Amino acid sequence: MQTVRLLSGYDMPTVGLGTWQAKPEEIERVVTTALDVGYRHIDTAFNYNNEEAIGSVLKEWFKKGGKREDLFITSKLPNFGNRPSDVERFLNLSLKRLGLDYLDMYLIHMPFTFKLNEDTCTPATNEDGSFVLDLNTDPVSVWKEMEEQVRKGRTKSIGLSNFNEKQVLNVWENAQIKPSNLQVELHVCLQQNSLRQFCQTHNIIITAYSPLGSPGAKTHFQTKYNHNIEDFPDVLGHPIVQKISTEHKRSPAQILLRYLLQLGVVVIPKSKSPDRVKANIDLFNFSLNEEEMRTLSTLDKGARGRIFNFLFFKGVENHPYYPFKDELQS
Ligand SMILES: NC(=O)c1ccc[n+]([C@@H]2O[C@H](COP(=O)([O-])OP(=O)(O)OC[C@H]3O[C@@H](n4cnc5c(N)ncnc54)[C@H](OP(=O)(O)O)[C@@H]3O)[C@@H](O)[C@H]2O)c1
Repeated sequence: MQTVRLLSGYDMPTVGLGTWQAKPEEIERVVTTALDVGYRHIDTAFNYNNEEAIGSVLKEWFKKGGKREDLFITSKLPNFGNRPSDVERFLNLSLKRLGLDYLDMYLIHMPFTFKLNEDTCTPATNEDGSFVLDLNTDPVSVWKEMEEQVRKGRTKSIGLSNFNEKQVLNVWENAQIKPSNLQVELHVCLQQNSLRQFCQTHNIIITAYSPLGSPGAKTHFQTKYNHNIEDFPDVLGHPIVQKISTEHKRSPAQILLRYLLQLGVVVIPKSKSPDRVKANIDLFNFSLNEEEMRTLSTLDKGARGRIFNFLFFKGVENHPYYPFKDELQS
């Protein structure tokens, strides 16, 4: 498995398995397949509600001789736990659900914070459906507590997710243990050129989430939040991607993932289909040439390609740490 060295000194496999929206009943089949075909990196989060199911599969794998040190497991602090007093609590909960003693990577999932509904362990909402913003905390103070978790051995490395460049820099400048990973939306329609450049300068490895353009997200946002995204990019179906796919006799997904690997980012595609899980890591016996790389670079739509602007959390744009305020204004 190809890996990349993190600033923390640990190695992160460049292809991982995404698990957002992977239902607990699907997890057993998918994670088992993934481990069988060579995945060693699994991406989950407290609020994906599948950590326990992943933990059960890992337990079986360890029983059969699999070694903990061969795995790279990422989880994330939920947006309703973004306060220093909650970091250890939520990290411990993730560890307990996963049945692990430590994580390889723990990320602050989002820079903004919602109040917690203690009964449901979900973000608190107002009567009009808007989310209750918590304005009494900030990412730097949360980061201090993330660093404490490294010192206590609960996670090997720490990082950020969905932070914009300025927000990453703010944490970076105030950190004793620097963030070694930034997980952001990144695919051909949102190529994050400036953020990639910034992260390269600061030695932060980028993980590309939704590398295939998250085709299921549109329906999910409509069904769960009654939120519609006009102009939802069809990343897998783009004619240029299809053309290169035909020429290489590789699936469009493989072309998209290979492109991102060649840009130097880590990818975490999700699938509930064992065949696709297998194909999505079969990326190392072909490459895209300079011309194909250049052509794919022209598909970037900048911020217009963004799927996850989080506006489905009604009222989130009023939070001082909402990361995409500039994009809303332009
Ligand atoms: N940090 C964050 O805020 C954040 C946000 C979003 C996602 N993530 C992480 O990133 C992971 C990946 O992102 P994502 O799940 O949004 O989207 P994605 O990986 O871009 O796309 C997943 C979708 O593509 C389909 N798919 C997978 N492989 C395929 C293939 N070979 N050919 C055609 N279709 C294929 C899947 O359908 P089937 O399942 O039916 O195959 C699924 O609907 C997540 O699972 C999660 O771990 C993190």
